[in-house]
Parts: sequence; C-alpha cells; structure tokens
Amino acid sequence: MKLGTKLIHAGVSPDPSTGAIMTPIFQTSTYVQSAPGQHKGYEYARTQNPTRDALQSALAAIENGKYGISFGSGLAATDAIMKLLNPGDEVIASNDLYGGTYRIFTKVFERYGIKFQFIGMQEAENIRSYITPKTKLIWIETPTNPLLNIIDIAASAKIAQEHNILLCVDNTFASPYLQNPLDLGAHIVVHSATKYLGGHSDVVHGAVIVKDDALAQQLYFIQNSCGAVPGPQDCFLVLRGLKTLHVRMQRHCENGAAVAQFLRQHPKVDKVYWCGFEDHPNHHIAKQQMKSFGGMISFTLKDDSQEAAFKVLSGTHLFSLAESLGGVESLIGHPASMTHASIPREDRVANGLVDSLIRLSVGIEDVEDLIADLQKAIG
Ligand SMILES: Cc1ncc(COP(=O)(O)O)c(C=O)c1O
Repeated sequence: MKLGTKLIHAGVSPDPSTGAIMTPIFQTSTYVQSAPGQHKGYEYARTQNPTRDALQSALAAIENGKYGISFGSGLAATDAIMKLLNPGDEVIASNDLYGGTYRIFTKVFERYGIKFQFIGMQEAENIRSYITPKTKLIWIETPTNPLLNIIDIAASAKIAQEHNILLCVDNTFASPYLQNPLDLGAHIVVHSATKYLGGHSDVVHGAVIVKDDALAQQLYFIQNSCGAVPGPQDCFLVLRGLKTLHVRMQRHCENGAAVAQFLRQHPKVDKVYWCGFEDHPNHHIAKQQMKSFGGMISFTLKDDSQEAAFKVLSGTHLFSLAESLGGVESLIGHPASMTHASIPREDRVANGLVDSLIRLSVGIEDVEDLIADLQKAIG
C-alpha cells in the first residue's frame, strides 16, 4: 500500500458498535471486567486505549515499522527512549538539535550518569572516532533544527550496526512523507507529532516507531510504567491530522521551495539555509534519502544586528511570531531566544546558530501572499 492510502486507512476501521467511520474518542479511564481478570483486552487506560491503539497502528504503518508507541509530547517520547539506557552509557548526538532535546539530555539525563557527546555529523564517518565500548545510542535529527543540515541516515546506520549501537532518528522535520529512517537502517524513529503529523497546531503529542519486537516490548513497558501517555482526544486529533499529511506536505514543499528562492535573491538577505539548494553541502544526500526538501527554512540578513532581525520578526503579518512548526499556517521564529534558548550561547554560536538567525515554518497558504508578507517585512 502506498503512503497516501496508508495515511487514510492504516490502523482504523469502522466502530463495530455503531459503524462510525471515524475512530471514537474513548474517553474512559477504566474498563468493566465480567469476572476478575476477564476483559475485552482493555483493563486500565494508562496501559491501553482503543483510540491510542488505532493511532499507534497507523504510526507504525506510515513509518514502515512494526510498532508505534504514543506519548504525551515529543519530549516524553525522547524521555522514554533515553530510559532504555543505564548509568554509565554514552550517547553520540549531533551538535545541531532542537533545544529541548539538548536540555533533556544535558540537564536531566546527565544527572542520571549518562554521558553525551555533541558532534558535527555532516560527515557521518566523523561518528566513528567518538565511539567507545560504552556507546549505546547515536541520536540524529535530519534535517536539523534550525540549521537544516543533512545527516546521512544510511551511513550512520551502517556505523551503528557495525558497533551494535542503536540509531535513533528524530524525523520531525521531514515527516514520513519525505523520508523513512527505518528503511535506511535506523532502529528507532521519534516524532514530535505536535508538528507535521498533527499538522494543525492544535495538539501536543509524541511518537516512537520501531521494528524490533524486544525493543518495542521495552518501550511499551516504559510507556506504561512511567506513564507519559497521551489522552484519547489528542490521539484522535493526530489520527485526523495524518489523513492529510501527504497533501499538506506536498504544498509545504512547493511553498518552501518558492520562499527559499525568493529569500536567496533578496539583496538584504545574507545566508539561506534550505537543503533543496544544489550548493547545500549535503544536497546530494538529501536527494538520496528524501522525496523533496520540506518547508523549513532559516536565514540571516546582511545587517547581522539583532535589531534588524527583530524588525523582520515583528514585521510579518501572515507569518505569525511563534514557537513550533509544521502547522498549516506559516510561522516565523527566533531560535536564539525561543526554541533554542536553552542551549548556552557560546555552544549555539560555535555551531552556527547566531543571534540574528530567523527560522520559518512555511505553511500551505497561497505562496504569493507569503512572499509579499516577507518582502514587506524585510523591506
Ligand atoms: C525536532 C524536534 N524534536 C522534538 C521536539 C519536541 O517535541 P514536543 O514539543 O512535542 O515535546 C521538537 C519541538 O519543537 C522538535 O522541533
């Protein structure tokens, strides 16, 4: 089955009691048993919920995995993956990551004795020199947030497999429409489903998808034992969002390409970060592992003062100044003071995330209006 069909049909079937075509929101905390231990497969809603089950099956299908595991947020999903590790274990992570991921790694899990190395991974081979006998996990985002670097998933997976290390790919920026990391050898895919999967800026949700039976059992155990489960209404909203992912993503990509080209030829714009440009350092890898290049773009102005960037950030009308991304509406953000403020400034700047960087999540409005909005704000 192809992705568009899976997005609409996977995991869902008409409700047997009414024929409702949409999976009902099972807003219940518990399920009645006919005798002690005799039930219909559902005991208590932290452990199982039918709305969540439908979503988890859909998530597994669209990432070409076997198991989907849902969480109350993307970071709750990350938290669950980190709980696969033990004190003393080491993680190699890319040095361009969502700020909240960096924060949970350094401020929460370092306290539990897990060691993190943040390294440049544009050359996947670079990973090798950081591997020690204690390395248990490689963590990548691609495209990265916010610099849109591309990391070679297949090459990273090969290194991980050679050393018996897990590879986790945060696929939030690409979505399963653009790439399927499990097909390229990754062991774990994680999503902030708050973004493209939900797609309408109305829900916070996280997802983990795996193929391996034992890994799935461990993750379901952590989901139930630690309890960061999503509510059924949120599962319903993500399920509904999935049904249009392919149509939305196609438009995000078209609009993203047009906005990136517009910015690149603008005399006041300095650098434009978008993996669709042929001279992007890893464009050839993006072309191999992605279907298209997405709607996330970052840029700087020739006037590199924070004041000039702030003028643009508060000068748009259709691009709303807000954190988050991946919704139908366009957003503009300032990573240094918003999404990535939790990364120390010297680390941020060393990796290229300067104070004047502006990030766009290009929505699915009419692109002429979006370009006119940016033109007005940039001047
Ligand atoms: C790439 C990426 N991963 C993970 C997260 C965390 O997800 P959530 O906000 O749903 O907890 C975000 C949030 O912005 C993100 O951009």
